[in-house]
Amino acid sequence: MKVTVVGAGNVGATVADVLAYREVANEIVLLDIKEGVAEGKALDIFQKSPITMYDSRTVGVTNDYARTADSDVVVITSGLPRKPGMSRDDLIGVNSGIVKSVTEQVVKYSPNAVIVIVSNPLDVMTYQAHLTSKFPRNKVIGMAGVLDTARYKAFLAEALNVSVKDIQAVLLGGHGDTMVPLPRYTTVGGIPVTELIDMDKLNAIVERTKVGGGELVKLMGTSAWYAPGAAAAQMVEAIVKDQKRVFPVCVKLEGEYGINDCYLGVPVVLGKNGVEKVLELKLDKAEMELLQTSRKHVLEVMAVLQK
Ligand code: LAC
Repeated sequence: MKVTVVGAGNVGATVADVLAYREVANEIVLLDIKEGVAEGKALDIFQKSPITMYDSRTVGVTNDYARTADSDVVVITSGLPRKPGMSRDDLIGVNSGIVKSVTEQVVKYSPNAVIVIVSNPLDVMTYQAHLTSKFPRNKVIGMAGVLDTARYKAFLAEALNVSVKDIQAVLLGGHGDTMVPLPRYTTVGGIPVTELIDMDKLNAIVERTKVGGGELVKLMGTSAWYAPGAAAAQMVEAIVKDQKRVFPVCVKLEGEYGINDCYLGVPVVLGKNGVEKVLELKLDKAEMELLQTSRKHVLEVMAVLQK
């Protein structure tokens, strides 16, 4: 199996590092436009392998897409990260051009790959990659829900003083402040979370999750990479190993949830064909309203792209 990661910034390098460490693919190509950066980080990851013991080989290249040929999965992390005070949507002007040109190269050399988008604004950059690649919807997907639910689970585990491993959760909507964590579908060791925590505390955790990315941008002056990189790598693993994992993933909706032609996060089954099934939950009125608000927001940003 061969996986390419485009963009050797903090997120892209973390994706490659996690993929190598977990031996998800034997060949990992890290590509960047800045001379030497991908080569250096890939060499560093290779030199870590005798210490942490893995056989995956990571190779770095500068803009040489021929070296990415016939990848099974391509992760696109290219583009600018947020600076304090910016929303993800503020990045659209710069990042849409970058994602478009990267996708053109990816399609040329890996026409059968599943593309996983990480660049922001996430939902609309996934749409951009779909427009450019003309790949079917199962093969152009975005990473957001795995990260956003991870933040939600981490905050819950801390509040309840339980293992993160025992928290199951799902989240819907765009990768932005309108995302929709679903307490009704959150369990702790099989127990509905609402039986274990006060509503006030739970609501505070939901609100913190929605702005979880922004909290880190404020602290660090740039956006996060450990959890985003590991989240993208987990999606790649599900595809490469045909695991049929159930994750919230950004995908084009074609009638599910009564929504058409909008990219939004929903739970899916992820396997070798990318999205193999979109799972439709029975939402109550309040949850459906929140999902519609998120959809409207994503559509507004999609309209900016179309201009
Ligand atoms: C975040 C970025 C990756 O949420 O969107 O940290």
